[in-house]
Amino acid sequence: MVTRPRLYSGMQPSADSLQIGNYIGALMQWRELQQSYQAFFSVVDLHALTQPNDPAELREKTRRTAAQYIAGGIEPSRATLYVQSHVPAHAELQWILTTLTGEGEARRMTQYKDKVARYGKDAASVGLLVYPMLMAADILLYQTDIVPVGEDQKQHVELTRDLAERFNARYGRAFTVPMPVIQRETGRIYDLQNPTAKMSKSAESDAGVLWLLDDPAVTAKKIMRAVTDSEGSVRYDRQAKPGVSNLLVIYAALTGRQIPAIEDEYAGRGYGDFKKDLAEVVVNEFAPVRERALALLADPAELDRVLAVNAGRAEEVANATLADVYDKVGLLRRA
Ligand code: TYM
Repeated sequence: MVTRPRLYSGMQPSADSLQIGNYIGALMQWRELQQSYQAFFSVVDLHALTQPNDPAELREKTRRTAAQYIAGGIEPSRATLYVQSHVPAHAELQWILTTLTGEGEARRMTQYKDKVARYGKDAASVGLLVYPMLMAADILLYQTDIVPVGEDQKQHVELTRDLAERFNARYGRAFTVPMPVIQRETGRIYDLQNPTAKMSKSAESDAGVLWLLDDPAVTAKKIMRAVTDSEGSVRYDRQAKPGVSNLLVIYAALTGRQIPAIEDEYAGRGYGDFKKDLAEVVVNEFAPVRERALALLADPAELDRVLAVNAGRAEEVANATLADVYDKVGLLRRA
C-alpha cells in the first residue's frame, strides 16, 4: 500500500460557531485535501485555555467545533478528527520544544505581541508565550508534510519548521519538517465592518463577523450592511476598495468563479444587487452545514464516541513520535 503524505491542522474552540474566515481560509481546503492526504484535524482545546473561559462553555464549544468540522465535510472515518487534550503527548512534546526555543524568539511572535498590546503585559499569561510551541508539538507529533492554514498562522508554522530542524540537527532526525499551505486570496478574510482588519472569532463587534451557525436572516442582513465605498462599482482593488474586494473574494471562493467574471456580471449595477446575490450565495452555502451541525449536536453521546475512536487513532501515531523524542533527548526509559 502506498502511504499518503500527512496533513495536520486545527482550530481553537473559542466561540460557539466558526466564522467565514475559518471556513474559507481553512475548512474548505481541509475538505479537499483529506482525499489525497492522510489528514489529522484537532480541536485545540488546550490552546483555548490561553483565554479566559467558562469551563462548561469550553466543553460545549469543543463539541460544537468538532460538529462543524464534520458538518463542513470532514469525514471522521477517512481523516482523524479528535480533541487535542485527549492525546496527552501534545503537552508532553510541548515541554521538550520549549527547551529548544529562545525566550526572545518566542517574544517575537506577532500574535503574541498583538495580544500583549491588546490586553496588557500582566493579562498576557506565560501560556500565551509558549502557545506556538504547543502548536509545533501538534504538527510535529504526526510527521506532518503540510499544514493548511490562514495567513495569520504562517509565522507559527515557520517556527515549527525551525524547531524541527533544530531538534533533528541536535539529537538526530525525529521530525518531518512541515510546509505551510496558504491560499493567496482566501488566506485572509476581512471583517465586514472594518475591512482592513482580519475577521476574527474574538472581534469586538459582532456586526462584521459572519458566523457559520448564525440564523440565515442575520447573515443576509450583515452582508447587506457590509462597509463598501462611494464609488459604486463592483471592482477588485485591495488598496482603494478593501470592503468590496473582500466581498468579491468571498463570492469567488464560495462559487468557484473567477473574480473578473464576477466583476463583469455586475458591471454597471450597484452594490445592492451584488450584496443581495452574495447574501444568497453565503446563506445557501451555510444552511446545510448549519443543519447538519445542529443535528450532530442533538446527539452528543454519539459525537463523543466518534471523537474517542479518533483520539485512539491519533494517539498511536503521536505516542510513537514522543517515545522516539524521549529516547533521543536522553530520558531514561521506564523499565
Ligand atoms: P484559529 O482557531 O484562530 O483559526 C483556525 C483557522 O482559520 C484560519 N483563519 C482565517 N483564515 C482566513 N481569514 C480569516 N479571517 C481567518 N481567521 C482564521 C486560521 O489561519 C486557521 O487556519 N493556532 C491556530 C490553531 C492551531 C493549529 C495547530 C493550526 C493549533 N495547533 C496546528 C494548524 C496546525 C489558531 O488559533 O487558529
